[in-house]
Amino acid sequence: MPLVSPKEMFAKAYAGGYAVGAFNVNNMEIIQGIMEAGRAENAPLILQVSAGARKYAGQNYIIKLMQAALEDCDLPVVLHLDHGPNFEMCKAVIDGGFTSVMYDGSHLPYEENVAETKKVVEYAHAKGVWVEAELGRLAGVEEHVHSEESIYTDPDQAADFVAKTGCDSLAIAIGTSHGAYKFKGEPKLDFERLAKVSQLLPGLPIVLHGASSVPQEFVEMCNKYGGHVPGARGVPEDLLRKAASMAVCKINIDTDIRLAMTATIRKHLVENPDDFDPRQYLAPARTAVKEMVQRKIKNVLGCSGKA
Ligand code: G3H
Ligand code: 13P
Ligand code: ZN
Repeated sequence: MPLVSPKEMFAKAYAGGYAVGAFNVNNMEIIQGIMEAGRAENAPLILQVSAGARKYAGQNYIIKLMQAALEDCDLPVVLHLDHGPNFEMCKAVIDGGFTSVMYDGSHLPYEENVAETKKVVEYAHAKGVWVEAELGRLAGVEEHVHSEESIYTDPDQAADFVAKTGCDSLAIAIGTSHGAYKFKGEPKLDFERLAKVSQLLPGLPIVLHGASSVPQEFVEMCNKYGGHVPGARGVPEDLLRKAASMAVCKINIDTDIRLAMTATIRKHLVENPDDFDPRQYLAPARTAVKEMVQRKIKNVLGCSGKA
């Protein structure tokens, strides 16, 4: 089955009170692990590529790997650009066959974010491609944006932004953040703000970035086998499940896949010091990706059986 647009996927998720996982991909094993999980759960999937991933693997390699992944696959799968930093990169992936792009102007002054997003929307819509935009700012680290503090999305500004830009979905800031260190105190999300945004923008799919849960067993595994990720904490799974039951239709997960792979590889190499064939540690790492994605589909997204 060819790549699909998120349009129908999100309409079903919105109506059904669940979300679709958007998992970051960088190489073959990650793509294979995610696809195996989707197949095992009969779940819709979004595979997303950041600017850093595109630079690391090469756009063409990712597209060819995705073509291979889609052979004999009847799941609905979206290929999405994550945190597109400029019009040129959005255009390049649209021309290459991606079915969805995020233009991230969240760090820009409001009017500039509106103008740049609108430019991407015009190009993308002419080609039938979906556009996610972002308003508000998440704390944490991304390829091109570093923010010490979050600035929560203003619901009235969100309504104005969507009307002016024509974007198809909107990433909002309600307390999540990128990376493995999300909360110093009690983890919480601003559900009132989410409800207000969706009340002003009925039917609009909302996106949550920075939505890894940082499962403690993988943090402990990393640390036990020579890693150093002290005090890593994520968004509790039950808070994300609640968001998925509201207007949140897309939940972005990267850090948890990184942790699962790295913890598994560390453990394997410590327990098997004679191994040096990459297949010996990449095969269990790929299984760890599959298991992590299945866990998300079941515990967080609620999209098992929704393909
Ligand atoms: O939100 C950012 C994603 O986790 C991608 O990270 O820019 O290091 O590829 P990256
Ligand atoms: P995490 O760092 O919480 O996995 O967030 C990933 C993300 O938002 C990708 O855009
Ligand atoms: Zn993100």
